[in-house]
Amino acid sequence: NQTNSIFEAIGGIPAVERLVEAFYVRVGKHPDLIPIFPEDLTETIHKQKLFLTQFFGGPPLYAEERGHPMLRRRHLPFKITPAHKDAWLNCMAHALIEAEIEEPYRSAIFEKLTLTANHMMNTPE
Ligand code: HEM
Repeated sequence: NQTNSIFEAIGGIPAVERLVEAFYVRVGKHPDLIPIFPEDLTETIHKQKLFLTQFFGGPPLYAEERGHPMLRRRHLPFKITPAHKDAWLNCMAHALIEAEIEEPYRSAIFEKLTLTANHMMNTPE
């Protein structure tokens, strides 16, 4: 499913890389997010590039390397509150602009990620 996908439309791997890199620069500076992410974000960046490639309808790179995403389960070791969710989405909103992901894809991606982020919350404020 690599045709007519968001992945293709935004420009494939280079666009995903720009987005993920811009995103984790912000995560690494966000006071609410620094405490729950690893200090070295290298592996996190790598996993997110694989995941978002697949999530946007590109090749299933994440599944090939790490298996079924089971994202909610993989996030259970971290206490993710509504404030963390808002911080995550705020970093993503800015990263989409910085990475020059154009409309209508920017909004389509943000809506998809908002649904997933809501699903990752596992701890009340
Ligand atoms: C991993 C936090 C939402 C995708 C992680 C990790 C943390 C985290 C602390 C561990 C870092 C690591 O394994 O290197 C959060 C917080 C979120 C959130 C606070 C707020 C709602 C999301 C969303 C997505 C996502 C919306 C996908 C669209 C991933 C992926 C991994 C990950 C793919 C790596 C999983 C693995 O293979 O180990 N996240 N996350 N996260 N997150 Fe999130």
